[in-house]
Amino acid sequence: MASSCSTTGSPGSPKFEKIPGTSIRVLRSVPSVRRWRKPLLLDHRSVALVPTMGALHEGHISLIRAACRENHHVVVSIYVNPAQFGIAEDLDSYPKTWEADVAKLVALDREMADDGGSYLGRVSAVFAPTTGEMYPGGFPGQEVNSKGSFVTITPVGEVLEGKTRPTFFRGVATVCMKLFNIVQPEKVYFGQKDVQQTVVIRRMVRDFAMPIEVVIGGTVRDQKDGLALSSRNVYLGERRRGVATVLWRALRAAEEGYGMGMAGRKEILGEAEKVVREVEEEQGRLGPKERVRFEVDYISLADPDTMEEVGVVDRRRGAILSGAVKMLRVEEPKEGEDLGYEGGPEVRLIDNIILKPLE
Ligand code: PAJ
Repeated sequence: MASSCSTTGSPGSPKFEKIPGTSIRVLRSVPSVRRWRKPLLLDHRSVALVPTMGALHEGHISLIRAACRENHHVVVSIYVNPAQFGIAEDLDSYPKTWEADVAKLVALDREMADDGGSYLGRVSAVFAPTTGEMYPGGFPGQEVNSKGSFVTITPVGEVLEGKTRPTFFRGVATVCMKLFNIVQPEKVYFGQKDVQQTVVIRRMVRDFAMPIEVVIGGTVRDQKDGLALSSRNVYLGERRRGVATVLWRALRAAEEGYGMGMAGRKEILGEAEKVVREVEEEQGRLGPKERVRFEVDYISLADPDTMEEVGVVDRRRGAILSGAVKMLRVEEPKEGEDLGYEGGPEVRLIDNIILKPLE
């Protein structure tokens, strides 16, 4: 970590860490963010926050770009929040790639310096706190019945992703409330990729009367096959990566059905199920050294505001098509096969498409 940060400071000013070759500060404590933030408030400079868990990819970068177009100063937070991982989930193995993240921010900073015209501001700070800093009373734990100061947004946080991961949105809302209170941004940027998360955050901001605008950026996908970029894709390895588009293809088929005039749940989701069955059959014909096994967790057709399932799409409101698929471990590796990061554990992928109002 030390190699990608330097500490500078002039006499009389508090010392601060910077990413070398840039003016991006690395802030690690709440008081250091407050010290940095206050003069910007007095100067009427706009500040935006892009919350991330690191392992930055083009999806994150597109949100940072959007934030820099519209704000004087952008803070990117990098914090792998334990509260949003279940006890049996991948917290310990979640990719932590500080050096690579810093390199991506440096490259982005250079690009923006060469293209001053498109951006109002730049990344001014990275907030990379410790868990002690984020949970000053001690980390309350990852169990459903852990005691502590939590923000819960229900019922939207209990359905879909919240059903399989009962502490997930509690963890997300709690850490975002903390981050918003620490950074005090005027705007926050979230990705469409995690659509239920955007609904939860919008609700939280509305219900707690937070003076913040929530901006949603479109999902960035692999240019060749449309797989939504995700920090978890590194676990897949080539064999499973090839089949991982099954969810996206299924959602696309359902979207096409809607576009052709379908409104009923059975009809629309039937289109998605057809694709899933086809891929299952295709894989079923292969042997254990070739095939990929997966399980669809859910494919949902839900109301855009509440994420409650709908029976018929109201064409004036549209709907959200979303899904989750578990890519199971490879059964029999081939000689020398690269199974993905950490030996290719089970990976749960999510994706969604917004069905726009048609009337
Ligand atoms: P993380 O998974 O790192 O994602 C950070 C932000 O990037 C989220 O708003 C997410 O929706 C967005 N994002 C991820 N993949 C994307 C893609 N392919 N296209 C566009 N945006 C994408 O989401 C989280 O972290 C955490 O829950 C967090 C909000 C930081 C709270 O801990």
